[in-house]
Amino acid sequence: MVWVGRFMAARGALGAAALCGMMSCAAAADRGSAATLSLRALAASCAACHGTDGDAVRGSAMPPLAGLSQGYFLQQMRAFRDGTRTAPLMQQIARGFDEAQTQALAAYFERQRPDP
Ligand code: HEC
Repeated sequence: MVWVGRFMAARGALGAAALCGMMSCAAAADRGSAATLSLRALAASCAACHGTDGDAVRGSAMPPLAGLSQGYFLQQMRAFRDGTRTAPLMQQIARGFDEAQTQALAAYFERQRPDP
């Protein structure tokens, strides 16, 4: 089974290299697989409002996402999606992601730490 692991590792590296060609990201190989990169891209779409990696601007009304528990995050995203939590922007945004993407985002933001 070792060869399967090697094959997958090589595929991941190639995928990351292809992305880097398009996006100029020298350190991407260190940051992990193509899947990780696409998750970061997904999370980056939240940064305009919630700050880089969910670290919201201090003192702003925007809630931070960094460090939110997966359970709370998922509950809020589902509530935005089904309209039980009303917030016109977030309702539209939450409806743009399927459950698998939402769960991946929940895990991603739980791992982030706000700057001290
Ligand atoms: C255009 C601005 C904007 C963008 C982009 C945006 N959000 Fe939000 N988000 C908000 C606002 C405003 C709120 C507060 C909603 C309210 O009034 O309750 C919010 C709230 C949330 C909350 C609830 C936080 C809490 O503490 O209860 C979550 C979770 C969330 N957003 C996730 C996301 C994710 C994930 C993305 C990216 C896929 C994203 N948001 C992109 C504006 C945005």
